[in-house]
Amino acid sequence: MDRAPLTVTITGAGGQIGYALLFRIAAGDMLGDRPVRLRLLEIPQGMRSAEGAALELQDCAFPLLRDVEITDDPGTAFDGCSIALLVGSRPRGPGMERADLLAANAGIFGPQGAAIQAHAADDVRAVVVGNPANTNALIAAASAPDIPAGRFTALTRLDHNRAVGQLTAMLDAEAADIRDVAIWGNHSATQFPDVAHATVAGRPVMDALTERLGSEGAATAWLDEDFVPRVARRGAEIIEVRGSSSVASAANATIDHVRDWMLGRAPEDGWTSVALPSQGEYGVPEGLVCSFPATSDGSGYRVVEGLAMDERARARFEVSVAELAAERDAVAALGVL
Ligand code: NAD
Ligand code: LMR
Repeated sequence: MDRAPLTVTITGAGGQIGYALLFRIAAGDMLGDRPVRLRLLEIPQGMRSAEGAALELQDCAFPLLRDVEITDDPGTAFDGCSIALLVGSRPRGPGMERADLLAANAGIFGPQGAAIQAHAADDVRAVVVGNPANTNALIAAASAPDIPAGRFTALTRLDHNRAVGQLTAMLDAEAADIRDVAIWGNHSATQFPDVAHATVAGRPVMDALTERLGSEGAATAWLDEDFVPRVARRGAEIIEVRGSSSVASAANATIDHVRDWMLGRAPEDGWTSVALPSQGEYGVPEGLVCSFPATSDGSGYRVVEGLAMDERARARFEVSVAELAAERDAVAALGVL
């Protein structure tokens, strides 16, 4: 196994998710026993916070951490980068319209995509966490046309993990027993968390829900009225309860996403969910960064194709795909794509 250090660049490293990510990466949670170099990209206002995190990293004396560099220059941050975690983005401010938000983020993810193309390692892989994550990934990929589009992904692993968490609670099961949940569409309230193919300890989740809730009708009602909206709106629920958005769970999902992508995912663990540029799978317009169920053998994520989808599921998925297309059109209208 290659033991040469990998360069991991984290944008927005001085922010909340950055703080939750850095220590777990340096501890080896993301890449196993592979040594890492960390490159922390911030804007000038975030530099002190990133510097403070770097001091704490030093105080941990992590055996796998080779060095840490902090910069506000994307070219320096992505120099030699193999894994780019694009976390820093422009949050929606008071009175800000969606188009303003997309424009502000285009101004971040366009230049970062271009800097990745110009400076990163040939085999770079990027995941966008900063919202609106799918469309930010689309912008970054469009700004790096020489990099195969599938190397730009957006995070829906958090939604996937949330769906597993809801099922474990309802079925009194362990997370490791749940397989083949799927998140379809956008990382937004329109997403469709789908259990049609999911199993719990080898048994269809639908059968287990029917037994638990007394009838198939009750199981369907729970899925429609509780499970789907709860998973799709969990980010808002966390903001309401915690007073700020998900941090540790978002960092954890980012680590899960990269670990499975780089090291592979055991077939017995089933598939995961990842947003990646569509190649037309399931009729999704080519290029939209859409969440699909996917597998990984370590060489790249592959969409699980050919899954049956009933009419209701298809209608839900199409709502989310239409939202992605509208975001793409809004960005294109700004002249960014
Ligand atoms: P935060 O405000 O604590 O941190 C963001 C950091 O990004 C700040 O330090 C800021 O200075 C920095 N930043 C802003 N513009 C930058 C730029 N151009 N280059 C480099 N750094 C820049 O926010 P957070 O809690 O860490 O969340 C980060 C993002 O992740 C938000 O957009 C949030 O909505 C999103 N998020 C996504 C998911 C998901 O599942 N995809 C889940 C939770 C949060
Ligand atoms: C989440 O899913 O927790 C976040 O995307 C929510 C948000 O708006 O930051």
